[in-house]
Formats: sequence, structure tokens, C-alpha cells
Amino acid sequence: MQLKFNYFDQITSTNSTLKADREAREGTVLLAKLQTSGRGTGSNQWESEKAQNITGSIVFEPTFLEPANSFLVSMAISVGIATFLNQYSNEVKIKWPNDIYIKNKKIGGILIENEFTASAITRTIAGIGLNINQTRFIKAPNPTSLSIVTGKHFNLGIIEKELFNSIDKQYLQLKKDKELVYQNYHALLYGKNKLLHFEDIHGRFSGQIQQVDYDGRLSIKDSQNDIRHYYYKEITFLH
Ligand code: BTN
Repeated sequence: MQLKFNYFDQITSTNSTLKADREAREGTVLLAKLQTSGRGTGSNQWESEKAQNITGSIVFEPTFLEPANSFLVSMAISVGIATFLNQYSNEVKIKWPNDIYIKNKKIGGILIENEFTASAITRTIAGIGLNINQTRFIKAPNPTSLSIVTGKHFNLGIIEKELFNSIDKQYLQLKKDKELVYQNYHALLYGKNKLLHFEDIHGRFSGQIQQVDYDGRLSIKDSQNDIRHYYYKEITFLH
């Protein structure tokens, strides 16, 4: 689709601003050099040095999806980001639900905010924070950036367009054939079929990630070969 790019020097949060804008329709992209209240998932803040990284949001109107399948949009976005990053590294992974990792460090995150009616998803505001030129971080746990990974400096104006076009391509793919996006997400999934250590409300355990459903539910096979299911925040990955 035709993306409409809007640029701001400073804004509270590109997600909050798009959410408040009832006129913002599918394909609207908002990019900011600096967010004064950048938000991560949950109650986290999003750390990003001014004019060094990509901090932006895009509106989708995935009315073709059942509300229960809304996680597919998130899958398409993560695959779009990971595919874009693949040109710079072959160690890009998506860590469930939708963190982007390179070499076991977090390079980016996605904040999805859906608006529903009883039977449809009317709008998805997808906020993307991707570390590009920043090399020192103050609070972020386990961060990396494209500059740290490649040793190069990037022109933000160029790569933010490439990034959002790559995301849009996967979104169009989702409209045509959701199975392919689903498979690509799993091909890139961090820890898939490896023995990892986790903690849930019952305690610590080891297991292998099996799959993620269309609604974002994660399945893990534990050492007794039982399959355990989790939604976001119900499980922690231990290192
Ligand atoms: C996370 O991993 O916790 C998600 C981070 C999402 C950050 C982006 S930056 C642009 C958009 N606006 C926000 O306030 N947050 C998202």
C-alpha cells in the first residue's frame, strides 16, 4: 500500500499520538527524532537517544482478521523487521512474543495496540523501536544496535523508509496468505527446538518451544514431554 510518512522532531510517544488521532488511517506512519514518553510493553519505558534510532508507529486496519487471530499482525511486523535486518546479519531472531534479537541481544521491540469491535479488529497501532546508531545505553537491559553489530553508521532517513516498506510487504503477504507469514515467523523464532530454561508461577523448568498460535499463545514441551501453554507475561525466559 502507499505509506504516508510524517516526521516530528519531538513528540510524547508516536503510539500515543497515533492512537489519539481518530483520522489516522491504514498506511499512516509517524516517525520522531525524540520521544519524551516513549513506551515499551507493560509499564516499561523505551530508551532511545535523540535522532540515533528508529522510533515510529504505523496504522493498520486488519479488518480481514478475526479478533482472536490478531497476533498474526504482530507476526507480520516482526517478520518484516527481521527480513529487513537480514541484509546486515544472519543472526537475527524473533524472541516471543515480538522482540527482535541479534546475537542474543535485543535490537528492537514492538508495541501493539489494537482497537476492536465485538466482531472485528478496526485499527492496529504498531510502534517500532529499532536501535540503529546508538552505541551506549543507560538503562536498557541487554541492548544492541545496528552500529554495534556492523561497525557502521546509517542514514536514518533512508533506512526508516526501507524498514517500513519491509513491514508493509509482510502485511500485504498476510492479507494474501497468512500461513506463509506464520511459517516465516516460526523459522525466525528464538530458541525453537532448543533446550531453554523458563520460570512460570509454579517455578523453574526446562523445555523446548514448539509453536506460537494465531492468538499469540506460546507452547513449550517440558522434560516430561507435557505441553505447557502461556500468554504474554505468564512466563519468563531465564538465561
Ligand atoms: C518493547 O520492546 O518493550 C516495545 C518497544 C516499543 C517502542 C516503540 S518506539 C515508537 C513507539 N512509540 C512508543 O511510545 N513506543 C513504541
